[in-house]
Amino acid sequence: MSAQPSPEVTTHQEVTPPHEPQEVHFEPAHPTRDDQLPDTPDAVMACKNVDVRYGDFRAVTGVNLIFGYNEITALIGPSGCGKSTLLRSLNRMNDLILGARVTGEVTLHGQDIYARGIDPIEVRRRIGMVFQKPNPFPKSIYDNVAYGPRVIGMKPSNMDDLVEEALTQAALWTEVKDKLKQSAFGLSGGQQQRLCIARTIAVRPEVILMDEPCSALDPIATGRIEDLMEELRQVYAIVIVTHNMQQAARVADRTAFFTALAAEGTGDRTGMLVEYDKTTKIFENPSDKRTEDYISGRFG
Ligand SMILES: Nc1ncnc2c1ncn2[C@@H]1O[C@H](COP(=O)(O)OP(=O)(O)O)[C@@H](O)[C@H]1O
Ligand SMILES: [Mg+2]
Repeated sequence: MSAQPSPEVTTHQEVTPPHEPQEVHFEPAHPTRDDQLPDTPDAVMACKNVDVRYGDFRAVTGVNLIFGYNEITALIGPSGCGKSTLLRSLNRMNDLILGARVTGEVTLHGQDIYARGIDPIEVRRRIGMVFQKPNPFPKSIYDNVAYGPRVIGMKPSNMDDLVEEALTQAALWTEVKDKLKQSAFGLSGGQQQRLCIARTIAVRPEVILMDEPCSALDPIATGRIEDLMEELRQVYAIVIVTHNMQQAARVADRTAFFTALAAEGTGDRTGMLVEYDKTTKIFENPSDKRTEDYISGRFG
């Protein structure tokens, strides 16, 4: 990983006896970048008062969030608090789930992606998604990357160049350049996930959504993906759902913490945004007690 551990972390090596409460502290990977971040991001996307329901069940409510250009935003919180649901609302993936309904406003460059006349396919091209489990198509490595451009009718002057460029951006080119015609299933899990990222990039999105992209990967493959995210951040806005708080602390510029609260009457647990801030603030000095409890491992 590109991060340099801070001196404090490397010099304190004493082992805490198991009976003593562990002080949990997640060191952000890039402590200096945080100081350079503006207090408010220059928004590529925004949520205004977003609710998502499945039938009568309100899974997430009242979300107001901004996603910045060239920033990685992490969505964290306990299982079931609506992170995946909210993420899917950012590129109209919930349209594909029967009974799911999004209200409020989700904007890309200020334009409501749910407005009448907006093509959801075009939304999903501009706002790509990478899933938890690598899901390459049963095709060759080359055809996985070329698939999206072909389907949407992109006419690159040279498809080979486009494929090479996407694979290079996804930090996979050198590993696969001699076996482009081989099945994607022959790749390792980590390589498959980078292939899925290449496939997403190939249609030239502006935003990449990632739902726990490393949870099926080993630590080395996870490190590769995290390094890659750092690279991609130069070009794209990235929104990542992660249950791994160290990962959020390592990669994200800003972090949004969600929790699920039981609604009066029904007892349904509805997800809501508790706190959104620069990642160092969330991990070192959160404003809300619930955030503090969660990141220090007392809850969730
Ligand atoms: N397709 C679905 N239909 C009905 N309920 C769903 C569906 N997907 C998720 N939910 C419910 O919505 C809530 C939020 O789920 P999810 O977004 O998956 O949370 P998270 O990603 O934070 O674990 C949960 O109560 C979950 O059971
Ligand atoms: Mg989820």
